[in-house]
Amino acid sequence: MPNLKKKYGAKWALITGGSTGIGYQFAEDLASQDVNVVLLANNKDRLENAKTKINEKYPNVEVRTISVDLSGDALDLEKALDEHVAELNVNIVFSNAGYGTTFEFEEVGWEAVQKHINCNVVAHVKVAEWFLKQWKSRGKQATRGAIIFTSSVASYVPIEMLSELYGASKAYLSIFAGSFAIRTKKFGLDTLVIQPGPVTTRFSEVAKIGKDPLKKYFQRSPSSVSRLIFNALGKFTSIETGFFSVIVKALTRFLGKNLIVYVSQKTSPTTKKDK
Ligand SMILES: NC(=O)c1ccc[n+]([C@@H]2O[C@H](COP(=O)([O-])OP(=O)(O)OC[C@H]3O[C@@H](n4cnc5c(N)ncnc54)[C@H](OP(=O)(O)O)[C@@H]3O)[C@@H](O)[C@H]2O)c1
Repeated sequence: MPNLKKKYGAKWALITGGSTGIGYQFAEDLASQDVNVVLLANNKDRLENAKTKINEKYPNVEVRTISVDLSGDALDLEKALDEHVAELNVNIVFSNAGYGTTFEFEEVGWEAVQKHINCNVVAHVKVAEWFLKQWKSRGKQATRGAIIFTSSVASYVPIEMLSELYGASKAYLSIFAGSFAIRTKKFGLDTLVIQPGPVTTRFSEVAKIGKDPLKKYFQRSPSSVSRLIFNALGKFTSIETGFFSVIVKALTRFLGKNLIVYVSQKTSPTTKKDK
């Protein structure tokens, strides 16, 4: 794998959603290259567990944890970053935290809707804004840096399996990251947005996705996703992380969204049930 410590002169990296899954794996892989990591997530036990695991494997690497609920007010996130991260001069940021929902959004109350949008959209924009301001303030002292966003294959195509909110949140992120990449290259920043298909993490459990027959054929491991990020940084701004994502992207382009929505309406289990 390319050495990101050397590539970005990185002493520190910040990983949101770094306590489990894709974010944890990326943090561990950075630690293997002697990059110190700040893991930001909500659940304190899972954060501690992640810190212990990295410490055991890489005792020379410093691991810090920050517990913030990204579903809350983005200004709480800003405060935490100002207090705990600003002094570290991070060069690599992985804006990755997020979760899926399968609920019917009109049934769960506005608070749950707002929380989902806060975590999957607003928090990423806040991380990007905070980091870009920091980066610009370093001026000529800045060397190179990288920011990675975790979108999803769900950003390409309207689907019923997850709520309307999830794919929409990821579509926002994919477009946001692309435009961010255009404007910030001149500051020495590499931007990458990843569009994973199914990955073996806590995601399905958290989203309450039942059995998905396709999953076992297309699932990838967090380590394979992390490896792809290491290899793509600086070369690409947007990648699919597996065969499933490539196929879905191609099919969406080929069939068009009108046809996909029409066929889904005709075959939807909810539509059948409602008849
Ligand atoms: N796994 C997949 O199939 C898949 C496919 C496409 C995209 N993705 C995306 O990949 C990203 C990482 O998910 P994962 O698959 O690695 O699942 P995961 O193991 O559930 O990891 C999610 C991470 O996000 C954090 N997080 C979630 N809600 C949070 C909140 N309100 N405040 C702070 N942190 C929060 C979690 O920490 P806590 O435990 O503290 O909540 C955890 O560290 C997500 O953005 C997800 O949408 C996943």
